Amino acid sequence: MTAQADARHHPSGSTDGAEAKDPHPTPATPAHPPSGTGWTAVCPLEKLQPERGVCALVEGEPVALFRTRDDRLFALHNVDPFSAASVLSRGIVGDLGGTPVVASPLYKQHFALESGVALEDSDVVVATYPVRVVNGTVEVGGP
Ligand code: FES
Repeated sequence: MTAQADARHHPSGSTDGAEAKDPHPTPATPAHPPSGTGWTAVCPLEKLQPERGVCALVEGEPVALFRTRDDRLFALHNVDPFSAASVLSRGIVGDLGGTPVVASPLYKQHFALESGVALEDSDVVVATYPVRVVNGTVEVGGP
């Protein structure tokens, strides 16, 4: 298994303190395409098993993708805000009082798949992304 390699996969902070910055930034070249146009193909729909998450890089961000038992798709940022670890795709998908949720595999907080809000602390919210299926391929909208 590659659990250790996975933990090192996303260092939580940059180690090079003095990042060279262009003194004359050119706003004409945005880092991201305009919102709404940036869709990233992630995987074929049949690769997504109900109640399981997968992880993908979308515009450089780790995104956890979930398929619920009733065949709905959700995408959340993969980082668990309580532990700062990129682990939510390995969480357990379930249903709390009719709300589809994922439980973090670390400290077990639950996040609503639709809104990203933590059920244990509504001040804590994980970013969510739009998901669509095009010709059998799951796509996630960019940040
Ligand atoms: S854990 Fe980094 S992209 Fe999946």
